[in-house]
Amino acid sequence: MKKTFYLTTPIYYPSDNLHIGHTYTTVAADSIKRYKKLQGYDVFFTTGSDEHGQKIQEKAQENNMTPKAYVDKIVADIKDLWKMLEIDYDSFIRSTDEHHEKAIADIFTKLYEKGEIYKDQYEGAYCTPCESFWAESQLVDGNKCPDCGRETHLEKEEAYFFKLSKYRDKLLKLYEDNPGFIQPESRKNEMINNFLKDGLDDLSVSRSSFDWGIKVPFDDKHVVYVWIDALSCYLTALGYGTDNEENFNKFWPADVHLVGKEIVRFHTIIWPAILMALDLPLPKKVFGHGWILFDDDKMSKSKGNIIYPEPIIDLYGIDAFKYFLLREFSFGQDGSFSREKFLQRLNSDLANDLGNLVSRTVSMVEKYNDGILPSPKKTEEIDDSLIQMATGTVHKVDAFMENLNFSNALEEVWKLIRRTNKYVDETMPWKEENADRLDTILYNLSESLRIVSILIKPFMVMTSDEIRKQLGIDEEVVWDNAKEWGLLIEGTKVKKGGIIFPRLDIQAELERLNNANNALIEKRMAAKNANKPEEKAVVAEAAEETEEEELITIDDFAKVKFKVAKVVACEDHPKADKLLVLTLKVGDEERQVVSGIKQWYAPEDLIGKKVIVVANLKPVKLRGIESRGMILAAQDADGKLTLLSTLEDIEDGATVS
Ligand code: ME8
Ligand code: MG
Repeated sequence: MKKTFYLTTPIYYPSDNLHIGHTYTTVAADSIKRYKKLQGYDVFFTTGSDEHGQKIQEKAQENNMTPKAYVDKIVADIKDLWKMLEIDYDSFIRSTDEHHEKAIADIFTKLYEKGEIYKDQYEGAYCTPCESFWAESQLVDGNKCPDCGRETHLEKEEAYFFKLSKYRDKLLKLYEDNPGFIQPESRKNEMINNFLKDGLDDLSVSRSSFDWGIKVPFDDKHVVYVWIDALSCYLTALGYGTDNEENFNKFWPADVHLVGKEIVRFHTIIWPAILMALDLPLPKKVFGHGWILFDDDKMSKSKGNIIYPEPIIDLYGIDAFKYFLLREFSFGQDGSFSREKFLQRLNSDLANDLGNLVSRTVSMVEKYNDGILPSPKKTEEIDDSLIQMATGTVHKVDAFMENLNFSNALEEVWKLIRRTNKYVDETMPWKEENADRLDTILYNLSESLRIVSILIKPFMVMTSDEIRKQLGIDEEVVWDNAKEWGLLIEGTKVKKGGIIFPRLDIQAELERLNNANNALIEKRMAAKNANKPEEKAVVAEAAEETEEEELITIDDFAKVKFKVAKVVACEDHPKADKLLVLTLKVGDEERQVVSGIKQWYAPEDLIGKKVIVVANLKPVKLRGIESRGMILAAQDADGKLTLLSTLEDIEDGATVS
């Protein structure tokens, strides 16, 4: 039987479209899968989406959609992205999959019946965007979330708790007995010092303040809190808890969970404890890779510095993009993305080094030998160093891949590529007068390129295939064939193809790339805004002149109740960048309205002002805050916006008709 290998990426939140950071983990996983397969393993690769929780519920509400409809759309985009990148996953598990939900209900019940879960009161500092409760000692700047830096708030509720505390010693022992369990090593020390050293608290594993989740089967006021739900995806993706556990029996435990450093804690403390409680085997390794930053800053929507992968792939192809991600960044460490660096590598490593080697090798075989590969004849000492390096590279790549050090693994391949280019310069085939010697040089160049085509296969599938096509090789890549010299067969017909990586004008490409990313951001924003109540109003007004409006009757109009309202208080929405929360006095009544006008008004500018409010609009929650009504604004084609008021001052509460 074949050796098996099971690897996973995190189950990403479909709260927004995925960016280059999520792509990084997935591309890395895909390369490991391809590498392991070439080595003869039977590999299973799981990715998916983590769809429950308060944040998703709020996002959906904000977009006037049900949570399921909201995530369906984003999950479709995620699957398109993986397809575009030819990600070779075996299971895309959605935490809303029926078999997953059933398995989670069973897991929860089992843990409760075993006494691993009990009911109690919970109060703590909660970060909604991160869906995490934090201990006081973990908060930064008073009450801010240590992960995202945003404000937390106190939340109190009845909850079920998992007896995490009792696993502290077992976890420490696990780390000690399995030095490779947490990688890189530094993250292990972080876990011990920050979370385990002073003891562990029990973990709240249910919530009753929202309902977008899997119901606790024996207490339907509660939903299963997101981490048990999400982590168990790694089991349910294999069919755990269904009547077909064949894959589970074959592949569990996982060989490696790839995760970003911010969720190492969940994977190395909570996850093994849950598995111990369930009497299931533990994963062999959790690798917490670094973050991709943008200009040394965290990528975020509000900073407007999100890099989406789609435009890069559209313009430069999958292989250039994957190569850059894996080569540029040290997997364990943070790294900064920049478009310049990407384009420079494209020019230097791909166009100059690899592209050039392919085109000159094939061209010379065509020019000097009618495109027929000759056999080697007259060897010289200089050949030995090339041959040694070519056959030795695979061992270095293997050693680096063992530690998931993609960057150095690829650097070894590029050393060989550069060495081979240098061999051309040293041997100068265009000057060689001895036919036997020329044959040998052409053979050695082709042979070295054959080895390169094997070594890049896990990372750059299409480029590898293209090189092999040009070299006239039909057979599938066999990893071990990179260890041997002399496998190309004399008489093979080489076929020159197109340039695999053209040289680019960096300045021009920078602009193209930037524009393409901005266009995508705008397109996605427009698609979303079309659903948002507060922006709909603004859009409708701007559209008035250009679009033929459907006519309404006076009765339709009379259904809408407008009133004059006075702004008595106004502040920023705690969780949204574009929203203000206004308190309006409308005659005797006070009401709260959330409005997307922050870009145009500071809260203090509005206090005391009179505005027009639609008073009989159904209340909605906008990012968790209730909005009762809508204030009217006018906006021109340039985007300038002003609120509507009355010409003369009038008492608030006055009706508008
Ligand atoms: O945390 N650089 O989902 P998530 C590198 N649903 N990697 C990045 C990155 C960046 N800038 N941004 C994101 C969740 N990632 C949970 C996981 S698992 C049982 C549940 C990658 O959508 C990285 O792998 O916030 C990180 O851990 C993950 O995306 C977070 O994805
Ligand atoms: Mg996250």
